[in-house]
Amino acid sequence: MRRISFLTAGMAAIALTLSGCGGSGDEKTTDSSAATEASETTEAPETTPADTDTETTEPEETEPAGTGALVEGASGELDIFTWWTAGSEALGLEQLILVLEAKYPDIEFVNGGNAAGQGGSGKEVLATRMNAGDPPDTFQAHAGKEMQDYIDADQLTDVGYLYDQFGLRDAFPEDLVAMLTQDGKIYSIPSNVHRANVLWASVPALEAAGLSTTDAYYASIDDFIAALEQVKTNAPDITPLSIGTTWCQVHLLETVLIAELGADGYNGLFDGTTDWAGADVTAALEKFATLMSYTNEDRDSVEWEPPIQMIEEGTAAFNIMGDWAPASFDAYGSVAGADYLYAPSPGTQGIFDFLADAYGVTNGAPHPKAAEAWIDVISSKEGQIGFNKVKGSIPARVDIDLEAEGFSAYQLSAAEDFASNAIVGSIQHGCAVTIKQGNAINEAVSKFNTGATDLAGFQAELVTAMS
Ligand code: GAL
Repeated sequence: MRRISFLTAGMAAIALTLSGCGGSGDEKTTDSSAATEASETTEAPETTPADTDTETTEPEETEPAGTGALVEGASGELDIFTWWTAGSEALGLEQLILVLEAKYPDIEFVNGGNAAGQGGSGKEVLATRMNAGDPPDTFQAHAGKEMQDYIDADQLTDVGYLYDQFGLRDAFPEDLVAMLTQDGKIYSIPSNVHRANVLWASVPALEAAGLSTTDAYYASIDDFIAALEQVKTNAPDITPLSIGTTWCQVHLLETVLIAELGADGYNGLFDGTTDWAGADVTAALEKFATLMSYTNEDRDSVEWEPPIQMIEEGTAAFNIMGDWAPASFDAYGSVAGADYLYAPSPGTQGIFDFLADAYGVTNGAPHPKAAEAWIDVISSKEGQIGFNKVKGSIPARVDIDLEAEGFSAYQLSAAEDFASNAIVGSIQHGCAVTIKQGNAINEAVSKFNTGATDLAGFQAELVTAMS
């Protein structure tokens, strides 16, 4: 594997472009040369058995209780809203709670989160609480346009003073901080960087279908459709493409748009230079519809984890999901290379579909000191290391040596791609679109996939959603 310095990986990559995610950075830095350069230098992720870091669920060593606490007098309840409430996501959260308990033993962690997940009622429950004047102290949101909604609604406070107090001014990539900044005020602190465009494949299912069991990268959506057809023909009991409820379907759609439009064309969907009503979008939607015809029947009633379990169990061949999936593979005991493969989603080699989780302090937080302590925890090196090793993401901090800290081979490859690929912002995960736009896109996708609209109607609704 090509060696690069993981200490500076994030910094280099994010400078390429986060313009697709909004924020206050005004420079449009995406260019086709970045994509070209990336496609020349990016290697397909390796898929050797050594890829899995099976130790990721072990608690991280943290500083002894009471040391390194940067918020004096923080005690009592911390009311936090997150949809990391179950399965592998809860494991990541647990790592943060361990650091919180060590640093701030007088704080009681109260999870006001919503088990319905992000696609279910998660964000709605949060909105209801906020609008009723009952905000949590801090909540999970995505860096980018989604954060803008909360800023516009005056629901977040300026945490710039915490960047100074905790020494964070140089800890994160400049452009990522720019996304979180508005009129000189910084509204949140990132906990991680996730990649959305990843294809996960089951080795036993690939074997049964007669497909490659060592390389799961497909250069185009058409090539991928041919592979799905081969699964259907050769292994009729196996679901070619497993998928979950509406938000997972939007997630799939964005990866198809990226593959079909390329990085510049996709970013253009958000700055007006690519027409949502255009023929190339129609062609992408047609391919999306074809992909959906290879999916599981119960798709609308399941979250993202059961479809990933189908990969683990070998009852499905492929799944396109963000890189929070490895934690689920680890928990099941699946080993990369031996039991499952990963690769950039079809047709997206050289492009990194970016999202980041971020937390702020709410306006009117009942326990603001506890919220500050939480920000200390998620921004600290030990917090970012413990959390991200389990969550599958890479730290947002640029001063962590991932190799030395024992991050998995997948994570090292993600960091390498983040440093060299063209960066685009996720639609589903709040980077490229506002909450309102995201909700309208979800509704359009749901209607189309349940037969309530035809393709022309679907595209018209997407145009309206983004207008
Ligand atoms: C994303 C979030 C990830 C993960 C995922 C699945 O929006 O950023 O951290 O939680 O949803 O729930």
